[in-house]
Amino acid sequence: MKNLDLAFRPRRARTTDAMRALTAQTSLEPRNMIQVLFVRDGIDAPVAIESMPGQYQHTLDSLKYEVRQAIDAGIACVDLFGVPRDEDKDDEGSVAWAEDGILNRGIRALREEFGNEIVIMADTCLDEFTSHGHCGPLVTDEWGNEVVDNDRAVESYCKMAVSQAKAGAHTVSPSGMMDGQVGAIRAALDDAGYPDVSIMAYSAKYASAFFGPFRDAVGSTFKGDRKTYQQDPAQRREALLEAQLDIEEGADFVMVKPAMAYLDIVRELADVSPVPVAAYQVSGEYAMIEAAAAKGWIDRERIVTESLMGIRRAGADIILTYYATEVATWLNQTK
Ligand code: PBG
Repeated sequence: MKNLDLAFRPRRARTTDAMRALTAQTSLEPRNMIQVLFVRDGIDAPVAIESMPGQYQHTLDSLKYEVRQAIDAGIACVDLFGVPRDEDKDDEGSVAWAEDGILNRGIRALREEFGNEIVIMADTCLDEFTSHGHCGPLVTDEWGNEVVDNDRAVESYCKMAVSQAKAGAHTVSPSGMMDGQVGAIRAALDDAGYPDVSIMAYSAKYASAFFGPFRDAVGSTFKGDRKTYQQDPAQRREALLEAQLDIEEGADFVMVKPAMAYLDIVRELADVSPVPVAAYQVSGEYAMIEAAAAKGWIDRERIVTESLMGIRRAGADIILTYYATEVATWLNQTK
C-alpha cells in the first residue's frame, strides 16, 4: 500500500524520549513549586491530617526537618500556615499577629535556621485564628445579617503582615479576599520598615468546595461559606479585575486558587500579567488524587506529575502544592 501523502506527520515529534523532550514547550522543575506546610501549637509530635494522607500538622522541629528536605530537593519557597490552640482563638483572631503566636514562631524558627536559603512565605489570613472561622471580624448590619467587616479585617491583616515580616517572612500572602487588602498591607510593610518584603496576592480565589480537606488540616470547625468574599465559580471577568487591582496596589505575584477547575483563569491571567502568576493545587485536589490512588484506580505518580504539568501548561509560573518536595525528588531522580 502506498503511504498517505502528508506534509505533516505530528507523530514525528513523538518518536523517542529524546525527541519528545526536545520538542516539549512546558517543563516542571523543583524551583517552580512551593511546598505548603502546617505548623501547629501545643503538640509534641507531628499529627497526621486524616483527609490529606501523607500531610501533617508539624511541630517546630518536624517543620524544620521538612524544610530541610525541601531545600535539598531544590524547592525555592515554602508557604506556612499556622494552627493555633483552640483556647487561643477569639472573635478577632488576635493570636494571628501575636509575636509568640504559632505562625510567627514557625516563621522565626525557619528564618533563624535557614536564613535566605529558601523563600519563607506566610499565609496572611485570620480564619485559622478566629473562633468563628471567618477570614475577618463579624459585624451585624442594620438588617440583622452577620457579615465580615472588610475594613476591620484589612486592619488586622496589616498587623499580621507586619508581625510576619518582623518574624522573618520574605513574602506575605493575603488570602482573605478583602477589598483593598494588598494596598493596605503594602503601605503597612513600607511604614514599618519592610519595603523588601514581597506580597503574593490571592487574586482570584473562588468560594470552592475543593477547600474541604483544608478545614481538617487547620482544625477548623467552620460550617458556613465564604460566598460574600470569595469569588463565585461562575465568574470569569472578575478574576481579571481582582488581579488588576492587586497589581495596581503593589502585588509582586498574583495567584489563582484552586488550580485544576480554574485553568482557564490561570491562562487568562498568564496572558496579561506583568508579574509572576501562581496557581494553588488545593487540599481537595490533593485528597481526590490520594483517595483514587489508594484504591488502585489511578497511577499516583503519573497523575500527580500530569496534574502539575497541566497547571504549568495553562501558564502558571509557580505552583503551590502539597506535593512539591516529593515531586522534586522524583524529578531529581530522572535527571
Ligand atoms: C483561608 C484559606 C483556605 C485555604 C487556604 N487559605 C480555606 C478557605 O478559604 O476556606 C485552602 C487551602 C487548601 O484547600 O489547600 N485563608
